[in-house]
Amino acid sequence: MSELLEYIEQKKHDETRQGEALNLPLNESEFKNNKHFYIESYGCAMNFSDSEIVASILAKQGYGLTTNIFDADLVLLNTCSIREKAEQTVRMRLTNINQIKKQKPGMLVGVLGCMAERLKSKLLEEEKLVDIVVGPDAYRSLPELLEEAEGGQKGVNVLLSREETYADISPVRLDNNGVTAFISIMRGCDNMCSFCVVPFTRGRERSRNPETIVQEAHDLFNRGYREVTLLGQNVDSYKWKGEENQTNKEAAVLMNFAQLLEAVAQVNPLLRVRFSTSHPKDIGDDVLHTIAKYHNICNYIHLPVQSGNSACLERMNRTYDREWYLNRIDAIRRIIPGCGISSDVIAGFCGETEEEHLDTISMMQYAKYDMSYMYYYSERPGTMAAKKYADDVPLETKKRRLAEIVEVQYQLSLQNNLDDIGKTFEVLVEKTSKKNEDEWCGRNQQNKVIIFPKGNHKVGDYVNVYIESANKATLKGRVVGN
Ligand code: SAM
Ligand code: SF4
Ligand code: F3S
Repeated sequence: MSELLEYIEQKKHDETRQGEALNLPLNESEFKNNKHFYIESYGCAMNFSDSEIVASILAKQGYGLTTNIFDADLVLLNTCSIREKAEQTVRMRLTNINQIKKQKPGMLVGVLGCMAERLKSKLLEEEKLVDIVVGPDAYRSLPELLEEAEGGQKGVNVLLSREETYADISPVRLDNNGVTAFISIMRGCDNMCSFCVVPFTRGRERSRNPETIVQEAHDLFNRGYREVTLLGQNVDSYKWKGEENQTNKEAAVLMNFAQLLEAVAQVNPLLRVRFSTSHPKDIGDDVLHTIAKYHNICNYIHLPVQSGNSACLERMNRTYDREWYLNRIDAIRRIIPGCGISSDVIAGFCGETEEEHLDTISMMQYAKYDMSYMYYYSERPGTMAAKKYADDVPLETKKRRLAEIVEVQYQLSLQNNLDDIGKTFEVLVEKTSKKNEDEWCGRNQQNKVIIFPKGNHKVGDYVNVYIESANKATLKGRVVGN
């Protein structure tokens, strides 16, 4: 297999990995109810984070967790609608679950998340085995919906909210290495990127009370966690105006994202802080200066470009142009030297010409991304692009352009990693390497995966690693000076 094909295969693996069952670490003896639930999460980190809220709500109802679907009384799929393929994956999984349900007639099946929100009760008509359908803002109603479903009725709640942030719910950590955790700081999205279904599935943007965010970070630190990732679709537009005034457009902003970052960074210098996702139109120099000021705010920014061409960006309704984005890259390089930068790229958006595609490639080369998530355009019903533009780039062309983009990214990742040989990075130890039991796997501030011999170090330690070799995905080295 060529290295490029191997790289694409790895990417595919990364995507499907998102749909794997999560490792559920809860002590099952805590649960009084004999019932068990099983949950699979698809899509972005927000969905994975939401599954932890759902686990918390169900735990209060006495549901224990199981990683074995055959032991489950309730099977939940937390779904994604971002591309057609994401929905197809869930439908295939539901067909599969149908076979299991035939052997376990009392088992309930619930669809949560973005697909539930997009399709609403239509899902019940299309997928006969589904018993409950719950949108991202309606998880508090799960207990009542389950009661209805147990009584033989179908339960649906897809109401979106202007206020819900689940601020008071303490998530049950599911993907548990005990070191890194997500903290959701806001929900929804007010940007109407023309290709994107998220504003329809997640509703209006709203920010979570910062006190509860800082408290959650404190609690995690005290339980041994050493890294938190602050999550939102557009973290730079985080704004807290006080509980009473959150929906009041005129009210003064009491805390913005730069200030929130600072507050979380001050929880403890040993707690690393990451965040995702930044929006190029909103990431200001104040955020960059805050990152530069605190050692424990990681020097890494995920700044999705989508396209490198201004006309295409306008059709995408991204509200910035090529010049603006270049300026943001320059500002990052100036204010945070050595900062890792990654991106999302869409190939073959409506009307994309060959020249526009080449602009995307030249943008990638300018920004020298360490990593990108790369997709070809998938039309989503109801979006502005679906209404306004023809999906006119032939599939073969989309795929060819995507392959070219992937090839460019592969070269950039490899070169960036080779440039790291001979440097020393501070690494947070996360887990045993998949390939060698005697090696640790951790990440540096720039979010690069680093493998090194275990020595006497343990998970949660910070160690300095001198880089000796590299490939496109990983750096390898040895611990120095610890
Ligand atoms: N809020 C983030 C942002 O603005 O960049 C991420 C949004 S989305 C959850 C993740 C990525 O999926 C997007 O950045 C975009 O590259 C991709 N995406 C969204 N809609 C798409 C579509 N219709 N077809 C292909 N890719 C899409
Ligand atoms: Fe979608 Fe744009 Fe919002 Fe990101 S910022 S979630 S791409 S609408
Ligand atoms: Fe998918 Fe919804 Fe996230 S559409 S990418 S799970 S916000």
